[in-house]
Amino acid sequence: MPIRRRMLLSYTLMMLASVLCIVGLGLTVAIAITGDWTGVRDLFDRQYALKPVTAQEQDAFDEARYYAKKTPDSMLDTKLLATLDDKLPSVKAGLIVRKGEQAIYATPSLGLKLDDIRLPPYEMVNINVRGTWANDGQKHSYVKFDFRYSDGDSGSLYIVKKISPYGEMTSRWFPVLIGLLLLLPFVVNGLLNYFMTRSIVNPLKELKLAADRIREGELGFEVLTRSQDEIGELFRSFEDMRRRLEESVQVRLQDEENRKELLANISHDLKTPITTIKGYVEGIRDGVAGTPDKLDRYLSTIYAKAIGMDKLIDELFLFSKLDMGKVPFHFEKADIGRYAADWAEELALDCAGKGIAVEYEDELPETTFVKLDREKLKRALFNITDNSAKYADKQNKQIVIRLSAHGDEALIAITDNGPGIKPEALPHLFERFYRAENSRNSGTGGSGLGLAIAKQIAEEHGGNIAASSVPGEGTKVTIALKKWSGDRGNER
Ligand SMILES: Nc1ncnc2c1ncn2[C@@H]1O[C@H](COP(=O)(O)OP(=O)(O)OP(=O)(O)O)[C@@H](O)[C@H]1O
Ligand SMILES: [Mg+2]
Repeated sequence: MPIRRRMLLSYTLMMLASVLCIVGLGLTVAIAITGDWTGVRDLFDRQYALKPVTAQEQDAFDEARYYAKKTPDSMLDTKLLATLDDKLPSVKAGLIVRKGEQAIYATPSLGLKLDDIRLPPYEMVNINVRGTWANDGQKHSYVKFDFRYSDGDSGSLYIVKKISPYGEMTSRWFPVLIGLLLLLPFVVNGLLNYFMTRSIVNPLKELKLAADRIREGELGFEVLTRSQDEIGELFRSFEDMRRRLEESVQVRLQDEENRKELLANISHDLKTPITTIKGYVEGIRDGVAGTPDKLDRYLSTIYAKAIGMDKLIDELFLFSKLDMGKVPFHFEKADIGRYAADWAEELALDCAGKGIAVEYEDELPETTFVKLDREKLKRALFNITDNSAKYADKQNKQIVIRLSAHGDEALIAITDNGPGIKPEALPHLFERFYRAENSRNSGTGGSGLGLAIAKQIAEEHGGNIAASSVPGEGTKVTIALKKWSGDRGNER
């Protein structure tokens, strides 16, 4: 349930509870004031003793008392009693007259049998004129006047009023009821608080703890919830953030690792030729290269080593410039068929010396134009074929270049019959500084930047690069370039 609805519900409940309490308290107080009961039993009795009847009832009583005092025997006159009775306004109030121990008149509406009426004892002097009296479990409040009939019999005049059973019960349970009514809002509040805490505050605490853990650099944990409300959404966003953070930290750590490795590799790759150069220069200085022939060989080696170092530095420089987007590209509309054929021819010449056969297949259905930077694309292609040549391990080394079309893309696929690449290494192939484990141990050299550079160049062309491989059989790297839009060329 959404928090908003939950809040609404809780407040409604709270309000209902408050209203209930107010109504309950009001009723309690009202009953107390109207005279049915007050507080504890004693209080209640005292209250009725002090003020058992209303003013009108008191008037009727005063009149009856007057008759009882002046002409006690008139209290035997049922007619007169009935007239007096009529003056009592409340249906609950009534008149009772007693002669001796026997009640001789009782207002009919009281519903009492004369024989069953047991009134409080006669008093010589009217002292306890007010009080409460129970008859057959029904409680009454009364005012009374005791007198003597002319024949000397004791007589009593009572005005009694029924007290409702509810009032009686309420009076008995008054402190408990008041206590409960006062306690109810606290209980309801406590319960609401508990549920609100459980559904909102606890998850927030959990999130805070998770945030604290992240602040401390701990990212390898999951923040899960089954909740479907806004808190659940917050949890999912938080978890998403944590996952991305973890990924980015991992990428950063990997980069850091790669950089360290690169630094070590560069140091190693530079150190080796420099050591060689140093050795040869020392040889020349010491006169070891005695003949012009030997001197020439020494100088050639020094030169070749310097070229190698130059290449490595160039590659690094190019990569960092591409990485920063600082390399200008000069794009032009070019016939990819012709471009690739020219390049394949060049490659074939280059590879002939290395004993690698180059095959070229053009499967394009038509002349296809693409947008390309001749030099940069050549660099990317070179980086791919350079790997094919460098890692080639078969007797009959082979590179196949196949040109094809797929949708609105022109594909240049370079396939070799080298050692192939393990499936787990494939996804990392185009990452900077990445070198598969086997090439690291093989002593083939390289910085792991070749394919990263090729990828940057392909993407700068608006295309992409992908690799597939069957370990032991060979590798296929494909560059996809977008065809020149709006101008598809002629049928071939
Ligand atoms: N044709 C291939 N056959 C087998 N392994 C390959 C091939 N092409 C790439 N690889 C693997 O992919 C890794 C990354 O290649 P990449 O060209 O980026 O770096 P490198 O060749 O090691 O160094 P650099 O090209 O900078 O001299 C290589 O180290 C190698 O392990
Ligand atoms: Mg390479």
